[in-house]
Amino acid sequence: MSANSVSLAYLVAALLFILALKGLSSPVSARRGNVFGMVGMAIAVITTMTITDNWVYISLAIIVGGAVGAVVARRIQMTAMPELVAAMHSLVGLAAVLIAMSSFYIAQHGVALHLSNRIELFIGTFIGAITFTGSIVAFGKLSGKLGNKPLRFAGQHWVNLALGLVMIGFGIAFSISPGWTPFLIMTVIALALGFLLIMPIGGADMPVVVSMLNSYSGWAAAGIGFTLNNNMLIIAGSLVGSSGAILSYIMCKAMNRAFLNVILGGFGGGEGAVAEAGDGVQKTYRSGSAEDAAFMMGNADSVIIVPGYGLAVARAQHAINEMSKMLTEKGIKVRYAIHPVAGRMPGHMNVLLAEAEVPYDQVVEMDEINNEFADTDVVLVIGANDVVNPAAKTDPNSPIYGMPILEAHKARTVLIVKRSMAAGYAGLDNDLFYLDKSMMVFGDAKKVVEDIIKSLQH
Ligand code: TAP
Repeated sequence: MSANSVSLAYLVAALLFILALKGLSSPVSARRGNVFGMVGMAIAVITTMTITDNWVYISLAIIVGGAVGAVVARRIQMTAMPELVAAMHSLVGLAAVLIAMSSFYIAQHGVALHLSNRIELFIGTFIGAITFTGSIVAFGKLSGKLGNKPLRFAGQHWVNLALGLVMIGFGIAFSISPGWTPFLIMTVIALALGFLLIMPIGGADMPVVVSMLNSYSGWAAAGIGFTLNNNMLIIAGSLVGSSGAILSYIMCKAMNRAFLNVILGGFGGGEGAVAEAGDGVQKTYRSGSAEDAAFMMGNADSVIIVPGYGLAVARAQHAINEMSKMLTEKGIKVRYAIHPVAGRMPGHMNVLLAEAEVPYDQVVEMDEINNEFADTDVVLVIGANDVVNPAAKTDPNSPIYGMPILEAHKARTVLIVKRSMAAGYAGLDNDLFYLDKSMMVFGDAKKVVEDIIKSLQH
């Protein structure tokens, strides 16, 4: 392929990647977005094969990697998605480090690298190394293999700062006078930094960290793209880098957390479980059966369903869709209210509801639906907790104070389906459960909804 044709093919692939990101911003267009992404990636890979002599090795790698990816994708549970994403980011980080090492090796035996290339190589390597170990820690925490508790010690930030400075020192030494010693020392320090930076961050903040590492992995790829003089890698890396950064920002905003505060650790997991459920005062709540819940919803004019993490755990999305179809057939207006951080990853609830083929026009985002709760007869909170906790609005001492919530407490009746009075991710008691208008329906979300369906049938 001529250089011009390669540039043109890369440009088309880059445009398709941008269309893919645009498509993925809404559940309605997400499938189309995925197709754009796949076609773009196919063009990028095939074009790259035409400009290399190593297409046999590349094909073998694609076959092996593709086979592993297909098996993992088929087996993975929706609730384990965040840890899978973290594991994949670690591979991107590792790839960046290995590409940098091989580029340097080739340069030593062939055309010497310019100063600018050496700086790019240094930046790509350290970001890749931090992404690699940081993502492994994130995977360990999210999968429960490393425990959810933040690991902190006195002077931690100073140790990190000192290591960062030493690493930059070796990076500069490598850029001025390239050699394996400064390169490897710099890489080992970056690997240690990835571990040290992510260990102090608690479980509740992990999804933000995963999105941030996603962003890092993009920048690492872009850095290597400069070294290899590959425009495609630069563009794709920058797209991943900037979209990951924007996503981290959106998540922090939805959780009312300062980005810097997340990065420096100090919330979630350990302390998330911080605030004990209950403040010592005996509070009373009302509980009822699935039949009671069916009766109340069956006699309502409008119902808003608030899904949360428990819906994903119970895999109740198909049952809830069947239930809402029955209510809709009775002439009841049914909508789903989506909080931006409900569940454990961005878009978690949208993905589950889309999988169950819930009509998109019933799925409404928080800002749009919040002023409708006051006019709603029944809200069914199913496996959600923090995202409907009124303390976020009323209690300045609450760790979640200021976080926007779904204002379920404004509805005429609130039904809450969960297994116990246990706290949600932030570890907080929820006053919504003790309101006179609220009724707890205890049980696994799927089982309760199936019982509601049986009652509605009668
Ligand atoms: P949570 O506050 O975590 O509450 C989920 C509730 O589901 C729990 O109280 C649990 O109570 C219940 N539950 C668990 N398994 C269940 C089952 N099988 N059947 C019925 N109920 C079940 O969830 P949420 O309201 O979705 O809020 C999400 C939280 O995660 C927020 O604090 C948010 O900040 C945090 N977070 C989210 C993200 C993203 S991007 N989504 C990122 C970082 C942090 P029982 O044990 O009593 O059943």
